[in-house]
Amino acid sequence: MSKGEAQATWGGRFSQRPNSLMQVFGESVSFDMRLAPYDLKCSLGHASMLQKVGLLTEQEFKEIEAGIHELFEEIKNDDFSWKLELEDVHMNLEQALRAKTEAADKLHAGRSRNDQVATDMRLFFKDACFQLKTSLEGSMIALLGLARKYPNLPIPGYTHLQRAQPVTVGHHLLAYIEALGRDHERFSRVVEHANVCPLGSGAIAGTTLPLDREFSAKALGFVDENGHALITPNGMDAVADRDIFLEFASACSTCALHLSRLSEDLILWNSSEFGYINLSDSFTTGSSLMPQKKNPDSFELIRGKTGRIIGNLTNLMITIKGLPLTYNRDLQEDKPPVFDSLDQLSQCLAVVAGCIESASFDEGKCRLSASDPLLLATDLADYLVEAGVPFRKAHHYVGALVALAEEKKLSLPELSDEDAGQVCEFLKADWREVFDLERAFSRREKPGMPGPNQIALRIQFWEGILQA
Ligand code: ARG
Repeated sequence: MSKGEAQATWGGRFSQRPNSLMQVFGESVSFDMRLAPYDLKCSLGHASMLQKVGLLTEQEFKEIEAGIHELFEEIKNDDFSWKLELEDVHMNLEQALRAKTEAADKLHAGRSRNDQVATDMRLFFKDACFQLKTSLEGSMIALLGLARKYPNLPIPGYTHLQRAQPVTVGHHLLAYIEALGRDHERFSRVVEHANVCPLGSGAIAGTTLPLDREFSAKALGFVDENGHALITPNGMDAVADRDIFLEFASACSTCALHLSRLSEDLILWNSSEFGYINLSDSFTTGSSLMPQKKNPDSFELIRGKTGRIIGNLTNLMITIKGLPLTYNRDLQEDKPPVFDSLDQLSQCLAVVAGCIESASFDEGKCRLSASDPLLLATDLADYLVEAGVPFRKAHHYVGALVALAEEKKLSLPELSDEDAGQVCEFLKADWREVFDLERAFSRREKPGMPGPNQIALRIQFWEGILQA
């Protein structure tokens, strides 16, 4: 290889070839090759602008356009040979285009790999968010399906992992649908923020060439709802900042955290101790030693992968932390974490959908656990409040009743009227009605509560949104 042969892009001022170790160390094509479709699209937009401003002839543009289309096909058909010594996706594609047309030598006018990669990544984020939003919808539809099957099945709700108040499976699953709905919105916001075109920033300070930035932005779809071009207002910021990366990785982390908490609930519910839910064989695994085991590995892996996805966000923040403006080669390391977050989260969402679709509740066990009268101790305090007792006092009375029942080894409603009346004079003959679970739910018919009508309404709301 002669000087500049492999490094046709920047080899001019070098008299020595890159050390082979440096080539291996410095390459990014092994991972940034997945940007190829965006890089080609970006080059096409840039080329059409160069033609518009007279820096490419129509013939040159046509040759570049045809070459880019051929490259699209080659890459799609896995018929492209990536060269490590060409460092990254940009230089591989530029050189491959050069082999098709000499006009490719004019393509990089007014452009740097810095604004090029910033543009490629914004195109990538738009697609990645779209993909994740579709996967999120799949998980939400699965959760909605399960909520629809058991909207009013009572289960204990927990705080501190102690039985707190009765809720329903509908209420509990809808809690996760609400959270995933916000994740969906978060990805839309990342798309909005990514929708600004850095092309024309050059390396940092633009160019003396008569570029038309609005034209390239429009060609690449960086437009507002009225079709007006959206372009970055500062060239240094445009090539140096990685806030869209952070927003994306953060949205992935938040979504993964929701899936992780859902997983933890399901792992608990699936244990013999709870026994609320059965997971299908297809998403559980056995033990190599203990023949009876059926482990909820799918959900454990989601919890585990959440650590990895959060790690990707941390990784990015640490990479960016000490960098002076503008581009520094450290930034080449910004891609693996976001690619990984996309891949891992997509898988997690698909696995959640599959697991949830095939899960079923053990209604008997759920009802049995939810029939614990202590879950309605707060309702008894409410009963006293309605009889005119200040809440703090009511709380105290009920606490004393709970202690008495414990002492007598009885459940709360098993206390005799006489014993209960000695602790609290405000209990009337009907005080045990409080422990009717259906009554308890029917009295919770305000928005946000687990009353059957509220659950039905919210299920309807999400059916509309998800068209499920
Ligand atoms: N592969 C490089 C990266 O992603 C492209 C930008 C290179 N810019 C440069 N000035 N060396 O960071």
